[in-house]
Amino acid sequence: MTNTQASWDILFVHADIATMAQGNYNIIKDGAIGVAKGKIQWIGPFDRLKIDRFHSSPHPIADEIIDCSGKWILPGFVDCHTHLIWAGSRSNEFEMRLSGASYKEIAKQGGGIAATVGAVRRASEDELFSIASRRISHFISRGTTCVEIKSGYGLNLENELKMLAVAERLNQNFPLHVSPTFLGAHALPPEYKGRADDYVDLIINTMLPKVKSQGIACAMDVFCESIAFSTNQTRRLFTAATDIGLPVKLHAEQLSDSGGAALAAQFNALSCDHLEYLSPDGAKAMAHTGVTAVLLPGAFYMLKETRKPPVEDFIRLGVPMALATDLNPGTSPVHDMATVMNMGCVLFGLTCEQALAGATINGAKALGLDRRKGSLETGKDADFVVWDIEAPADLSYQVGITPVNKVVIAGKIAYNV
Ligand code: NIG
Ligand code: FE
Repeated sequence: MTNTQASWDILFVHADIATMAQGNYNIIKDGAIGVAKGKIQWIGPFDRLKIDRFHSSPHPIADEIIDCSGKWILPGFVDCHTHLIWAGSRSNEFEMRLSGASYKEIAKQGGGIAATVGAVRRASEDELFSIASRRISHFISRGTTCVEIKSGYGLNLENELKMLAVAERLNQNFPLHVSPTFLGAHALPPEYKGRADDYVDLIINTMLPKVKSQGIACAMDVFCESIAFSTNQTRRLFTAATDIGLPVKLHAEQLSDSGGAALAAQFNALSCDHLEYLSPDGAKAMAHTGVTAVLLPGAFYMLKETRKPPVEDFIRLGVPMALATDLNPGTSPVHDMATVMNMGCVLFGLTCEQALAGATINGAKALGLDRRKGSLETGKDADFVVWDIEAPADLSYQVGITPVNKVVIAGKIAYNV
């Protein structure tokens, strides 16, 4: 190190910080964050920084110092459940539902997921990349620094791999971290009508080995539901994924109670998602093996559901609750985590602190990334947002405004107002 070399690449000072360590605000008033090599090197009150660093080091403290003038720094959002890659629009189905048709009826008539599968199969990889890029840019500008993206609109080898290739390109071309999930078992493709077990065989024998050998997915997901795959089929799929070392997660108990969550818990699933119809035993099973509950109030809202996930059971049993957009063209065309936090509070009864934990540290938990992401602690990735707000609760409280000042990903300013 030469005499002129700074300790840190960038230093943020005079911000109020909610670290979200252990899922609580853990507020640091008038705080500072020192970043080098993409990681948080120092975090604490500005007064202590002065004592620790300003006077003791012969080197400049940082290459760049940003005065946040009393704004808030919170961890970047970790959106742990999205179907962000798709082509086409399903606003026609929204109109059908407004006139009384149900999601299940539309799916049975060949709409729903099958409609998007057609559009995705017809789209080239470049087209999908270009459409998804716009969504990713929007996510970053709204404070999301890590996003999970599922396949599941290809439903054959070629098109599932195409979707995962797009997810990988997004990861390479944008600063935010993309965690890709293989969701070949999202719905039965039309060419397998009446032959669900054969399609499960195709996933197990052909798709999963390719996904694994190409290293293009961090987990496997299944839609376990009367209109999708049964618990027996889910068990076969989970066994195959677990055998090759791919972690599992589940769309469980969204429209009915099929016992999927308890099954997922047996396989140490990273998360169970939706969970409106979860039974008390299912919640206990999740608590037992430490499965994160991912709540998706955007889908609940758009489908005008009335049955809520058992939030009080989760709190009593200590099941971590994450919140995610579930961004998809059918049930949740919701692109904004702050809106999801508002829905989590108003529709599911979360506190603003629980909503923020759900959108940050518990989202990271649902992806198995909580050692690196989701809270602001020394050694963790420097992924955070400078917000122009009076209090962290403002994010859940205000609707339709994005008071972002700066989005920082891996220590670099990825978006600046
Ligand atoms: O998470 N539940 C299954 N998948 C999506 C819906 C996808 C779609 O309708 O295109 C969901 O709600
Ligand atoms: Fe989903």
